[in-house]
Amino acid sequence: MGVLRTKSVEQSIADTDEPEFRLKKSLTALDLTVFGIGVVIGAGIFTLTGRAAHEVAGPAIVISFVVAAIACTLAALCYAEFASTVPVSGSAYTFSYSSLGELFAWIIGWDLILEMFLGASVVAQGWSAYLGTLFEQLGMPIPAEIGYGGTVDLMAILLVLVLGGLMTFGIKESLRVNMVLVAVKLFIVLFVIVAGLLFVNPANWSPFVPAPAPRDTATGLSQPLLQFFSGIEPTAFGVGGIFAGAALVFFAYIGFDVVATTAEETRNPQRDLPIGIIASLVICTLLYCAVALVVTGMVPYQDLDPAAALANAFAFHGATWMATLISAGAVAGLTTVVLTLLIGATRIIFAMSRDALLPVRLAKVHPRFRTPWVISILVTIIVAVVAGFTPIGLLEEMVNIGTLSAFVLVSIGVIVLRRKRPDLHRSFRVPLNPWLPGLSAAICVYLMLNLTVETWLRFLVWLVIGFVIYFAYSHRHSRIGQPGYEEFALPHVVSHHHDDGDRGGDADPRADRP
Ligand code: ALA
Repeated sequence: MGVLRTKSVEQSIADTDEPEFRLKKSLTALDLTVFGIGVVIGAGIFTLTGRAAHEVAGPAIVISFVVAAIACTLAALCYAEFASTVPVSGSAYTFSYSSLGELFAWIIGWDLILEMFLGASVVAQGWSAYLGTLFEQLGMPIPAEIGYGGTVDLMAILLVLVLGGLMTFGIKESLRVNMVLVAVKLFIVLFVIVAGLLFVNPANWSPFVPAPAPRDTATGLSQPLLQFFSGIEPTAFGVGGIFAGAALVFFAYIGFDVVATTAEETRNPQRDLPIGIIASLVICTLLYCAVALVVTGMVPYQDLDPAAALANAFAFHGATWMATLISAGAVAGLTTVVLTLLIGATRIIFAMSRDALLPVRLAKVHPRFRTPWVISILVTIIVAVVAGFTPIGLLEEMVNIGTLSAFVLVSIGVIVLRRKRPDLHRSFRVPLNPWLPGLSAAICVYLMLNLTVETWLRFLVWLVIGFVIYFAYSHRHSRIGQPGYEEFALPHVVSHHHDDGDRGGDADPRADRP
């Protein structure tokens, strides 16, 4: 069979009903929104805002946030449509399996693994950095060898191990802890906005879009791909700076797509997933624009601290206790990002191994905790090692390119699935198809072109490794490639639809066929 074979939506749903792979369905729309905010607000707003304003965009970083939000909103609509049609763990991976075919599904899964593994490691180090700042502000510095940037980042390792243990123990428990930490994080972000207003000097906002200036840090491989090919001198600020800033702060929005990975654990996925995805995105966008506006109003962009802008904008005005409070909030806030990305990573691998693109043995669900425990432990160990022993903290652009490429494929997937399966019940539909999904793909590609040559090269290496695994292992072992698979899976859907009271009423898409 070809590499573009697809797995039907019905098969995907049927697989989730097999007892050995069944996850616990306990999440509601509110849980998902909290989950979304928990993963989205993190290292991006706490650190990247300052760096992007300082280096490439100035106060116009606010516009960069809006541009990135537009890209994310379009992609979120596509995710919402897919999640409401194919409510199965695995997010974009599962969606593309049913629309674009197995090879694309594999690539997306591979991209998402990049996004979530690397994202979890990058943010774990960001957490450790803020923990270091906090302890220093409290007068008890962490020894340099075991803190952020030390020989071993012991703090990051400990964080990952504790969170990994928690997620293996149970999804509901994880989300309960998440809920408390998200509340703390929201409080801190609102605090920055409200308290920051006291220190705003409108003069700092002008010029709002600083005049373009040569960018000496960006040459050779560290310049954006677009500039590399067009031969235009790399510049900072100006209109170009707004887009370069958007490609960078895109990181701050990453995570709303992770909401879709919990589809199988949601009580009524068709209704709750679109709500969860879109609500978390809207709330985060409003908060980000407000924070960016306040912070660039507090301190001239040239003086913003590229490492810890939020806390240090207050220190700049002598408000040290506020700076300490913000560091403490960042420590609490970044915890949930790492937790959620770890959960997302396990759910993607779970979906891929259930389809036998990765070894099926990995997908075993724990009889009591009802979580994919083997994968959870593996993910925890890998992320702990990467975060503890490598200088991964500088690779957030890799996370962006992994996510953006998945967004592109999801957007195209929406158009393809509408053509291929117009009959499926979609409780949420992207308006203006195919224009809107097409625009979504185009904007994401444009943002990708604004990432550096280095990032592209690393990404290509990652893809090559992915192709090797696919052709050496996955293609041959794939579950839908096994004889008799389809005949076995289809009747299964119908029988479970009637006796599984947990599932939302729309779960069997065939029920709505004409
Ligand atoms: N959006 C997440 C963050 O900002 C990944 O940390």
